[in-house]
Amino acid sequence: MKKNTNIQVKRIAILTSGGDAPGMNAAIRAVVIAAKHHQMSVIGFCAGFNGLIDDVSRPLNINDVTHIIHKGGTILKSARCPAMKTPLGIAQATSTLLKEKIDALIVIGGDGSFTGLIALEKQWSGQIIGIPGTIDNDIDGTDFTIGFSTAVNTAIEAIDKIRDTAEAFERIFIVELMGRHSGHIAFNAGIACAAEQIISFENFSPVKLSPDNISLEKNSSDNETDKLKILAKEIKQAQANRHASYIIVIAENVWQGGAPALAQQLQKIADIDCTPCILGHIQRGGSPVAKDRILATKMGVAAIQAIMAEKTNIMIAEHNNAIAHVALAIAIMHQQGVSESLVQAQENILALTAQHIG
Ligand code: F6P
Repeated sequence: MKKNTNIQVKRIAILTSGGDAPGMNAAIRAVVIAAKHHQMSVIGFCAGFNGLIDDVSRPLNINDVTHIIHKGGTILKSARCPAMKTPLGIAQATSTLLKEKIDALIVIGGDGSFTGLIALEKQWSGQIIGIPGTIDNDIDGTDFTIGFSTAVNTAIEAIDKIRDTAEAFERIFIVELMGRHSGHIAFNAGIACAAEQIISFENFSPVKLSPDNISLEKNSSDNETDKLKILAKEIKQAQANRHASYIIVIAENVWQGGAPALAQQLQKIADIDCTPCILGHIQRGGSPVAKDRILATKMGVAAIQAIMAEKTNIMIAEHNNAIAHVALAIAIMHQQGVSESLVQAQENILALTAQHIG
């Protein structure tokens, strides 16, 4: 990056918000190093927007960000902040930014955090930059969000281990993965682990089936029970064809009651024994993989470049390997969906597998 010599010195603030994601520290590091290069001063607000509302911050210098690139979590801590949805919260955040004489605010987070930024934009005239950081990969306008690749790898490692014990006992497992309302983690990890079934928003409409409400009638025309029956039939068929393990990857929130409810229902409807396993927050932690460290580094530097270029109300994105700027309002308009080709890939491989095992 070329050194800036002609300038008004800027005061930058950064915070991490919403669900933490591996690689957030790498992004903070890149922001601080790039900002210092341009003689900007940087402070970090603590615990997401709560630190901004309560004016709790710490100065960030090169020493503070040395050797943090490999660490999961976030050195600034993170939180969800319902107060940012209220006029009072926005007013308090604005007052802190004015009091602290902040010229530009960088927020690393997901769409909830960006919605907070859009509300702030109406009250505060400083520069506002978002960096997409969430394991869910559900933000439109960027190919990947920081943290997603690590979460997928963590899920893969866990499912591979489950596969070992499932094979040994010829067991059926239902593994529930995070993603809020999207199936990016479920589809990527599921395909990479050769899951026998993936149940997610992209190939299943959400199922609300109370365990007491399942119709066991043979000719029941209840749509939701039918889905369960088809699933049960497929599991039985696969198990009859080859005595082996069977792994169902299920996205959280797609099936009411999640993996435990589905296990209970399969037992009730078809006498199938399944072991449910909710992977949970393990997917949010751990050292970021190379892809997330590199993405975060590129995005952090790009955020400072955008500030130097007087940009505002944008999200730093990466599209086809190149940095791009996307209006924050556009980034939150739609959730980024799982690509059709990925959903198709799972269907194709399952169909081919079925042909070969009869
Ligand atoms: O957005 C990240 C995420 O981990 C989602 O995948 C999950 O649904 C949610 O956060 C969990 O939130 P919390 O940690 O607040 O329970």
